[in-house]
Amino acid sequence: MIINIKLFKKNVPFVYYLIDICRNVVYILLKYIYTPQKVTIMGIRIAGTGRCIPEKILTNDDLEKMVDTSDEWIVTRTGIKERHIAEADQTTSDLAAEAAKKALENAGITADMLDLIIVSTITPDHIFPCTAALVQRKIGAGKCPCFDTSAACSGLLYAFNVAYGMMSSPLAYKRVLVIGAEKMTSLVDWTDRSTCVLFGDGAAAFILENDGNPETPDFYVAGEVAADGNAADILIVPASGSAHPASLTTVAEKMHYIKMGGPKTFQLAVLSMVSACRNVLEKAGLTPDDVVWAIPHQANRRIIDAVANKLGIPEKVYLNVDRYGNTSSASIGICLDELHRAGKIKRGDLILAASFGAGLTWAAMLIRW
Ligand code: UT7
Repeated sequence: MIINIKLFKKNVPFVYYLIDICRNVVYILLKYIYTPQKVTIMGIRIAGTGRCIPEKILTNDDLEKMVDTSDEWIVTRTGIKERHIAEADQTTSDLAAEAAKKALENAGITADMLDLIIVSTITPDHIFPCTAALVQRKIGAGKCPCFDTSAACSGLLYAFNVAYGMMSSPLAYKRVLVIGAEKMTSLVDWTDRSTCVLFGDGAAAFILENDGNPETPDFYVAGEVAADGNAADILIVPASGSAHPASLTTVAEKMHYIKMGGPKTFQLAVLSMVSACRNVLEKAGLTPDDVVWAIPHQANRRIIDAVANKLGIPEKVYLNVDRYGNTSSASIGICLDELHRAGKIKRGDLILAASFGAGLTWAAMLIRW
């Protein structure tokens, strides 16, 4: 406002007052017209969750009959006791669609109300079309945009970042379905004992909803996503893509399966997840004491313990790696859905999630429930 106080003096003609009032009205109108519209973040929350775990269980005892391993080795080195594996004709989009239906029901909305579908996966049904489009068809959603993200085990947290960005930007998507879904067993070499004991299949789905209420706090409190492509070769499926399209040679040399430098991956997993968690807490101005649950990517019990001990929060860690093994981008999602459905998290609780995977990629996110 540009009211000139000096005008309110004796002997000032009335017309001066009028000029001043007009000036202010014009100033306010111009300000209103020319100020660019700000994007207001209005309560983007997790409105519903769901998971799909294939029925079939593969135990360590079963694996003992397939490769030179033992229940004792697998449990002490990884913490895994069993994993669920999809049927031969059960695809990643089948698992994703089942999880999505449960999340929709949990959120109390129908598929036609979705504005966007994002599927995080490294085991898509096909190179193309994207798995998200297949999910759209299976759940009967409308013609909303669909795409996949690929960041391996960090994928769900990457997808949350993408979804949150698209909801809080001028794109303003209102209801977004985010899914982490994997049929990891489709990439497993069942003769390689160093990898086949580690992985399992599953999916978890989330409905992110902008409820339009400025009083509702966003689910996304703080986050970090990162990658180091220099270490791309330590965890890789060498063939299937453009570098090595399928051929008799790629099949003969088992290049369509997971190849992993286990110990190096282990070491980098601990370092990156610990630093990402610390950075995220610092960004939010919080400490580990403020966190109700810590959910590290469920790859190996020893990695989880190392991360939890370095952060000083072992008692807050949620674990299910013993039952599912490493389900890659579904892993954190399955934990969240289990906690939610068991009534172990309440609105407002802070959850610290962290993950690590091929790329190498890593991410941490502080989620407000
Ligand atoms: O999702 C994100 C990406 N993945 C990960 O985060 C996985 C990270 N890495 C790991 O979890 C661990 O490195 C593994 C579980 C993969 C391996 O554990 P490790 O303690 O690092 O074992 P290692 O690779 O150093 O192997 C130790 C020994 C080797 O035998 P020798 O050479 O010492 O005689 C392996 O051949 O254990 C042997 N071994 C096995 N023995 C019985 C490897 N796999 C098995 C097995 N059963 N399944």
